[in-house]
Amino acid sequence: MEGTFARFEGHEQVVFANDDASGLRAIIAVHSTRLGPSLGGTRFHPYPDDDAALTDVLRLSRAMTYKAACAGLDLGGGKAVIIGDPTTDRSEALLRAFGRAVDWLGGRYITACDVGTTPRDMAIIRRETRNVTGLDTEEGGSGDSGIATAHGVHLSMRAAAGVAFGEPTLQGRHVAVQGLGKVGTRLVRALVEEGAKLTVADVDEEAVDRVADLPGVEVVAVDQVLFADADVVSPNALGAVLTQTTIALLQARIVCGAANNQLGVDEDADRLRERGILYCPDYVVNAGGLINVADELHDGGYRHDRAIRRVEHVPDNLTRILELARAEDITTEAAAEEIAERRIAAVSGLLRWRG
Ligand code: NAI
Repeated sequence: MEGTFARFEGHEQVVFANDDASGLRAIIAVHSTRLGPSLGGTRFHPYPDDDAALTDVLRLSRAMTYKAACAGLDLGGGKAVIIGDPTTDRSEALLRAFGRAVDWLGGRYITACDVGTTPRDMAIIRRETRNVTGLDTEEGGSGDSGIATAHGVHLSMRAAAGVAFGEPTLQGRHVAVQGLGKVGTRLVRALVEEGAKLTVADVDEEAVDRVADLPGVEVVAVDQVLFADADVVSPNALGAVLTQTTIALLQARIVCGAANNQLGVDEDADRLRERGILYCPDYVVNAGGLINVADELHDGGYRHDRAIRRVEHVPDNLTRILELARAEDITTEAAAEEIAERRIAAVSGLLRWRG
């Protein structure tokens, strides 16, 4: 098949929303509703052209299907992009027009925050649709998802240590953390408390200052942190940090961090495996953020304790993936996809929810 549809690669629905009055140009991609309504954030970004926006939203929504399936959630995968510069193009009218477009999908797509959108934006979108999460706690939402995400990464790191070193603990281990934002800072604090030795870096000096004085923390230059002589390296800043060049220089036995899309290209999963480095698939270990916003969909509303309890299953999901990768002699990335596909095939016919 050729043409536009050939690019949709199994997506159920792709909606282009246009509103001349507010300047809204958005694309909503629903990859799969086989496990439930599709949930994924809205990225507000000045894409160079519409084609780049379409490529991005298709890729991101597909990834959400796998993320939700591996996390054991009754959610499908979807994502939205708003084409524009959030610093100059954001307006109440544009966000409401976007909310109306989300509402047209009748619950098949539920939005949330992503790069370029904030909980305040979600509150405006909610004035047009109920199908929105990622609101501030004052609005009845789940607030900063960094807490849940960092917790999931920390517990996953312990599980990976169990597989790689035989003991599921970071006590006495050396962990290098790239990026000290909402996730990285909390992760560092938890690891210090557990008795790990830390090497950290961030481009932002204020972020570094937040953790520099903690016991056992050493600050290094941003171009060195990934290659520290550590047991574990944890990317929590940017995507595409694991490439042919960087993988060759890694010293750590485990890679486990929250940053999205850590692999530069698919083959990088093979490169990590060939070097004997245990790569914890990013979308599996950073699922705490999704689990946290998904809790807003409960009938009684969001409960932090319940969300955190659910995040505590993230390391079990990771362990199953690591075991499958070992048993089938495949990459951990391939094992994660297989586990997701198996779950979708096994339970999608049994769900109460029908899209
Ligand atoms: P954040 O924006 O709060 O923190 C990112 C930090 O990385 C900032 O302090 C920034 O200065 C730093 N940074 C940027 N470039 C850097 C570089 N070259 N070297 C070192 N540090 C650099 O973001 P947050 O929320 O902490 O998320 C971290 C990563 O995890 C992001 O990739 C995000 O997409 C991903 N993620 C976050 C979730 C969440 O719940 N917050 C959920 C799932 C994924």
